[in-house]
Amino acid sequence: MPAHVSRAEAYIATRSFGRPTLVLDVDAVEAQYRALATGLGHARIHYAVKANPQAEIINRLVRLGSHFDAASRAEIELCLDHGADPARISFGNTVKRPSDIAFAHRAGLRLFAADAEEELEKIAKHAPGAEVYIRLIVEASQADWPLSRKFGCSKDKALDLLGVAKALGLNPRGFSFHVGSQTRQAAMWGPTLDHIAQLWSDAQAAGFALDLLNIGGGFPAFYGEAIDEPTVYAAAVMDQIRARFGNVPHVMAEPGRGLVAEAGVIAAEVLLVSRKSDRDLHRWVYLDIGKFSGLAETMDEAIRYQFVTARGDGQTGPCIMAGPSCDSADVLYEKKMVDLPLDLAGGDRILIRNCGAYTTTYATIGFNGFPPLDVVVI
Ligand SMILES: Cc1ncc(COP(=O)(O)O)c(C=O)c1O
Repeated sequence: MPAHVSRAEAYIATRSFGRPTLVLDVDAVEAQYRALATGLGHARIHYAVKANPQAEIINRLVRLGSHFDAASRAEIELCLDHGADPARISFGNTVKRPSDIAFAHRAGLRLFAADAEEELEKIAKHAPGAEVYIRLIVEASQADWPLSRKFGCSKDKALDLLGVAKALGLNPRGFSFHVGSQTRQAAMWGPTLDHIAQLWSDAQAAGFALDLLNIGGGFPAFYGEAIDEPTVYAAAVMDQIRARFGNVPHVMAEPGRGLVAEAGVIAAEVLLVSRKSDRDLHRWVYLDIGKFSGLAETMDEAIRYQFVTARGDGQTGPCIMAGPSCDSADVLYEKKMVDLPLDLAGGDRILIRNCGAYTTTYATIGFNGFPPLDVVVI
């Protein structure tokens, strides 16, 4: 077997599946965790559970001593069910239901995110005395999947919110930001870090003794364009942080994609290969998986999954890739077509690499009667 075939692909090669199935290699998650942790040094990993809440991943990460970033009560409960120490779970969503804040507080969580006065008031009421970090807006993200605008507050507001938190009896410990998901190169963090570092020193000058910097996610996976090895990438991010912030006592990183994406491969099937006209040079390739059954991140063709087929005489041609549902939005790649073998045909197996993040939970429950993505953990 060639060296590049992963354990997940080797597993798929010897089995058949009745529906699209994500095969997840939890040992690969562990290897990636260790690689990132080595590069991150003293920064703590808070796994962004939303990337993939698969029980076996949470379980393995609890055993490795990971911390967790939870977006909801359900994610907190999941981590607790697998034995996570509540003190190692942060509630990172800036938009929380009051009863969920109260639940988290009762469960023993201490650290909460906020980017607005009203959120701080909710936290002060339902988790009195909690530690908070203020999430900042990131402008001009160079990420493939930016998270700008919806989250964070501006520079002037951030200092006010530190004051509001203090006045409400909370413990404002620092700032958080997200450079944007799938930030392919560590150097792309530079402009964002410059911006945050300026604010960090403004806050210190204003008398806030900040000791926590949450650098969020953004760690990349391979989707066809070159990325650095995880240890090299994480170390380069930390070097840039040290250069701008000095020695921050507590640094948190919240990798999601960068921790789990490369541990998963989807086994899918080609349902139809067709041409809309005999003159068309490109073909339409319809798969049994689409935007509504796990590949939501193909929206705007932002995330470029890697397809592998067993056909291999070397001759390929451009294809528009589409999902199986009767919705014209269910087209995966059209602006930038995908080169696939000329003899590809319905019934062929197709592998979609590096699909361990943002696939299983991003699937509808049964749009058009197609079941959500199945998962096998090896
Ligand atoms: C608060 C927060 N932290 C971390 C992440 C994980 O980001 P990534 O998958 O880019 O590592 C996200 C993703 O949406 C997030 O919202």
